[in-house]
Amino acid sequence: MLILGKEVAAKTIEDIAKETVEFEKAYSRKPTLAVIIVGEDPASQTYVRNKINGCKQVGFNSLSFEYADGTPQEQIVDKIKELAEDKNVDGILVQLPLPKGYDTEKILANIPDSKDVDGFNASNIGCLCLNRPRTVSCTPLGVMHMLKSTGVELRGKNAVVIGRSNTVGKPMAMLLLNADCTVTVCHSKTANMSQFTKNADILVVAIGKPKFVTADMVKDGAIVIDVGINRVDGKLVGDVDFENVEKKASYISPVPGGVGPMTISMLLFNTLMSAKARENEQ
Ligand code: GUN
Repeated sequence: MLILGKEVAAKTIEDIAKETVEFEKAYSRKPTLAVIIVGEDPASQTYVRNKINGCKQVGFNSLSFEYADGTPQEQIVDKIKELAEDKNVDGILVQLPLPKGYDTEKILANIPDSKDVDGFNASNIGCLCLNRPRTVSCTPLGVMHMLKSTGVELRGKNAVVIGRSNTVGKPMAMLLLNADCTVTVCHSKTANMSQFTKNADILVVAIGKPKFVTADMVKDGAIVIDVGINRVDGKLVGDVDFENVEKKASYISPVPGGVGPMTISMLLFNTLMSAKARENEQ
């Protein structure tokens, strides 16, 4: 069966749009997301455009700041500091990856916890590890919603995450662990990866290689979530050999129309939560 992120996300987006109307009535302003993009990577530009469109769809304000590759890091940090002080800004997002030469950690460290709608800050990641989640990274959070939409009990299941990035693989593993799964993280240096994936009741793939997961690597009846977004011959494809793995999986997410729309809906959710929390603090 297909897990259509697009459909799961649509319900969240509808709820957020309703809550935004209430928020505006209560506080006489709209939730506001500021997005920073550096350089001209076409994929990043598409993601940012989709995020801004998402804001429009639910009635948020969005601000976007575009910098050429080579802009001094200080200038970007100064903008983040300005947005951090701005009472009308609820979320600050720096689109990743940054071009070579920028210190991502140093730049992100200037986003206050309360506006870190990507959940990438050390303290937000730390809280997730302690199973006291605050803002959780959008893509892994979206995957959890997709898994929950199947109605399958997660507790006690073997979950394998392929990929160990700070943005997806690591927080994904933590969320699954917090959901009482037995979690294995595989990555590009894992020897004989099939021995782990063949045992996976839940397989989340975020390695960034087209058709990396083949049918022989997958257990019968597994739930397979494909986080990959690769462009092959002008077409978007995931990290999973969909046609063949689909025959073995009980549930599988397609690309496009799977994880991508979930990420955006979770970003909007995190921004609304941040806006509400900030109003309640004042
Ligand atoms: N690049 C790929 N995914 C993401 C994401 O979720 N947030 C940001 N900021 N950059 C990304």
